[in-house]
Amino acid sequence: MTTTKRQILVTSALPYANGAIHLGHLLEHIQTDIWVRFQRLRGHSCYHICADDAHGTPIMLKAQQLGIKPEELINQVRQEHIADFSGFRIGFDNYYSTHSEENRLYSEHIYKMLRDNGYIKTRTISQLYDPEKQMFLPDRFVKGTCPSCGSDDQYGDNCDSCGATYSPTELINPHSVVSGATPILRESEHYFFDLPAFETMLKEWIDSGSLQAGIANKLREWFEQGLQQWDISRDSPYFGFEIPDAPGKYFYVWLDAPIGYMGAFKNYCAQHDVDFDQFWKQDSTAEVYHFIGKDIIYFHGLFWPAMLDGAGYRKPTNIFAHGYVTVNGEKMSKSKGTFIQASTYLKHLDPAYLRYYYAAKLNSRIDDLDLNLEDFAQRVNADLVGKVINIASRTAGFIKKRFDGKLSQENINPQLLSVFVAAEETIAQFYETREFGKAIREIMALADKANQFIAEQAPWQLVKNDETLEQAHQVCSLAIELFRILITYLKPVLPELGEQTEQLLNSKLTWEGIHQPIFGQAINSFKPLMQRVDMDKINAMIESSKEDLAKMQQPKATGPLIDEPISETIDYDTFAKIDLRVARIIKAEHVPEARKLLKLQLDLGGETRQVFAGIKSAYSPEDLEGRLTVMVANLAPRKMRFGLSEGMIAAAGPGGDDIWLLSPDDGAKPGMRVK
Ligand code: MSP
Ligand code: ZN
Repeated sequence: MTTTKRQILVTSALPYANGAIHLGHLLEHIQTDIWVRFQRLRGHSCYHICADDAHGTPIMLKAQQLGIKPEELINQVRQEHIADFSGFRIGFDNYYSTHSEENRLYSEHIYKMLRDNGYIKTRTISQLYDPEKQMFLPDRFVKGTCPSCGSDDQYGDNCDSCGATYSPTELINPHSVVSGATPILRESEHYFFDLPAFETMLKEWIDSGSLQAGIANKLREWFEQGLQQWDISRDSPYFGFEIPDAPGKYFYVWLDAPIGYMGAFKNYCAQHDVDFDQFWKQDSTAEVYHFIGKDIIYFHGLFWPAMLDGAGYRKPTNIFAHGYVTVNGEKMSKSKGTFIQASTYLKHLDPAYLRYYYAAKLNSRIDDLDLNLEDFAQRVNADLVGKVINIASRTAGFIKKRFDGKLSQENINPQLLSVFVAAEETIAQFYETREFGKAIREIMALADKANQFIAEQAPWQLVKNDETLEQAHQVCSLAIELFRILITYLKPVLPELGEQTEQLLNSKLTWEGIHQPIFGQAINSFKPLMQRVDMDKINAMIESSKEDLAKMQQPKATGPLIDEPISETIDYDTFAKIDLRVARIIKAEHVPEARKLLKLQLDLGGETRQVFAGIKSAYSPEDLEGRLTVMVANLAPRKMRFGLSEGMIAAAGPGGDDIWLLSPDDGAKPGMRVK
């Protein structure tokens, strides 16, 4: 290693303090942790900081439901989160909370800087207010009938059923989810952050070429839509920080959440004598990286750098976004038992398995990652137990029993050893660029070479004759040396295996150590390092996942016909008025800022229609392009916030994960009428 010692600060997104850590969160934390451990193994200084995101209306209301103070709720949840993460060997330097004095200080400070620099505007807006509960209602806390299609029980921002987006004031028969009361309109002054003022700076940042392509593309799309003023205030009652010059007004949770990265780091710095400003001052040479999921790119790619810039701080060096975890090819599902909590997993399986599997499938792009449970078992067994551990388990015993526990001084195959050492830079490069899957492939190819060498030499035969005993000693010794290098390469992914191996070999595994063979040294007795994954245990985990989640949900009678009884009878002519057509989805794209909508271009066999569909929670654009579906072709076009919607596609299901598009059988052509 030739590079100078880098100063690096790394964060993972701050999990909300009102729910359990699940395997989706863990993708992010395992990815971050591997990267951090790699940097440390290379000798760099790398801090890993995280915290619970403790503010906002949902947390306030949940605490009320439980009859406890929000502070009590967030403390409990934080303890659970810390236990879950430590179970998976996530090595944070600090796991803090956004509800902290440090965070209050930086939130106030950044706000005041933005205000004094002219980036805060105020404006009076009208919002729905719950007169019974005496609070303003976030969109998610108002439900009513969709003004567009008439579906009941829709949220205040958009309709699950037809995909229309609207303001909560447009809902028909609205009611407060909190109290059931009919909301009234009420005016209130809000504080806005002037995001458009940062357009030039942000454009430069996006065009600098350092961002992941997937992130830059998304940010560009949002740019084209035009940047908007961002509402950063919420009225009391709210659980958060009060705005300094505005009593009764609170910072919106997403304002103080990213500042929480600073708050948590500050708390660490104070205890460990680290220079905080060195990392955050405008001309800092330290590196700052945020690992995040694809759903929060907007906040980290636009608001956060703009806030930092406007308040006189440096911007992150980069943000690294990952995709979503699916299980067996589908969204994690509570009813299927694949919405697996960290604590449930840990009751059944070794965390090393998941760390390895995620690593083996991770790359530097924003792709979703499928946890296929059979593949998971097969891969861990084949690679870790079958290949890697096997090297030591076939050779370490002989060293102990036949050769006094001492490795030979001689290297029987210098060429083979040099191949292992030479892989160093390639593997390091893959780790550095977050191509963990490629790093793993490289490492497993080396493991294959080691096993091939052992199989060819067959030390279990060589030990039987005195003439070949010395050869057996040399073969086993080289095998152990190769194993040592392999485990060094794997140590960022499998810290526990790394420690067990250090114990076995009486030697610390470091990156420089790759060049320092341990021939001639004494080793300890071999203890089994890892068990095979047992499919029964995976199945037991799925079952207990169902139980864990069932415990959390109140039983209630449901079923499609109960949830939505069959509508009143119509005559044939009424039905015939609805012109249903087979359509091909020729293009599908995300709509920035719309949580549920995808923008579709539908080919009707000669005519193209643009339709906004509320199916984003269940489908990604790539899944849709090219497929056939059914659309209502003669529905009056509707102007939406994002453009004109010229029809509707047909889908079944209650919403969320559970939306299923209709598909015609083979042979149907775009434009054909459905009768
Ligand atoms: N509190 C915000 C983040 C604030 S950061 C200043 C938040 N919290 S979260 O708990 O909803 O999500 C935390 C992280 O977990 C996000 O990066 C999110 O993308 C990630 N994931 C949540 N579910 C996930 C999957 N199913 N798969 C992969 N990552 C997922 O957002
Ligand atoms: Zn609707």
